Amino acid sequence: MLHLACRSFLPMRVAVIGAGVIGLSTAQSIYEHYHSKVSPLTIEVYADIFTPQTTSDGAAGFWQPYLYDKGNVKETKWNKETFDYLVSCLSSSESIKMGVFLQSGYNIFTEPVPDPSFKDIVLGFRHLTERELQLFPGYSYGWFNTALMIEGKAYLPWLMDWLQKRGVKFHQRKIESFTELAAAGADVIINCTGVRSGALQPDPEIQPGRGQIVKVEAPWLKHWILTHDLKSGVYNSPYIIPGSRLVTVGGCFQLGNWSTENNPDDHKRIWEQACQLEPSLKHAKIEGDWTGLRPVRNKVRLERETIQSGATRIELIHNYGHGGFGLTIHRGCAEEAARLFGGIVEQKGKCPKARM
Ligand code: FAD
Ligand code: BEZ
Repeated sequence: MLHLACRSFLPMRVAVIGAGVIGLSTAQSIYEHYHSKVSPLTIEVYADIFTPQTTSDGAAGFWQPYLYDKGNVKETKWNKETFDYLVSCLSSSESIKMGVFLQSGYNIFTEPVPDPSFKDIVLGFRHLTERELQLFPGYSYGWFNTALMIEGKAYLPWLMDWLQKRGVKFHQRKIESFTELAAAGADVIINCTGVRSGALQPDPEIQPGRGQIVKVEAPWLKHWILTHDLKSGVYNSPYIIPGSRLVTVGGCFQLGNWSTENNPDDHKRIWEQACQLEPSLKHAKIEGDWTGLRPVRNKVRLERETIQSGATRIELIHNYGHGGFGLTIHRGCAEEAARLFGGIVEQKGKCPKARM
């Protein structure tokens, strides 16, 4: 990645809205690339919900994008950047504090399907053998690979600690408009508001994709199993994902449903289907359900925008709409947002000779 080559001595204030995985990792990438090049660089994070209550905390924390990128090569690139970054973190003892560890498992299907867009990103991708398929009655096709877990409940506190140690300030409050932050002195606003982004700027494309999961104690389960039923759609067929302490059992995907209440009918369906897939779950201790809203969009919105509010020009970078793959793609998107930030610094003339 090419960032600014020179040093700017004019102050720059950055306001990040959102303290989920997207907001915190974007703040981190901007700090990493620009704290020594823009001086002073002030970064502040504004959010009404912090860890452990964000969507990013509740998510299973499994690295896997949607099976097919449908030509969206930018997202595949950002997914790969994230995977490679997380693998590089494994060589540090910090990795477990970050909630990052390797995990292997199965994607299974009722019929043959093309290989996924992530086949060359994950480790050791291969097709299942006949003997392996016998483990999964009713499924006739599948893949095995090693991927990663990136658990929000560890990663978000780790990111906040990392930022706090470098002087980033956190403000717990709801932001009503971009103008409010510009009026308070922000030079650049980074919009990482996830599923609620439409409240700050109308966006007909953003929708909630409601998901409910059951967290259980089942320490004997060592591999993730994701079933795919092309008729019921993504995440509506059963999945089992062992985490560091608890196993996540899912799932559901209800487009347009804003309810964050756990639903007993969804619980019943999820649990019965999962027990059929993995009968030993009947002996698992259920810790509880969790419901969250995926910020669903046709594609991630990651772009610059300049808006005028009265006499004020507001420089914005949008980074939202990461659907069911926010943890999977976060670092690549954060690095891209940092590149866009470099473009603003250059344009504002704060760095006369910039190289991107
Ligand atoms: P969030 O984590 O929702 O954070 C949004 C932030 O914006 C919050 O801090 C909120 O307070 C703030 N905010 C919004 N509006 C305002 C405002 N006006 N003023 C102030 N603050 C505001 N992804 C994976 O990669 N792997 C998985 O295994 C996985 N499992 C999932 C399982 C389920 C059941 C669900 C629902 C999702 C799952 N996801 C998974 C998807 C993942 O959770 C999301 O893509 C990700 O959390 C989005 O991150 P975010 O930072 O954009 O949003
Ligand atoms: C989900 O959004 O439910 C999900 C995301 C990634 C892996 C498994 C489940």
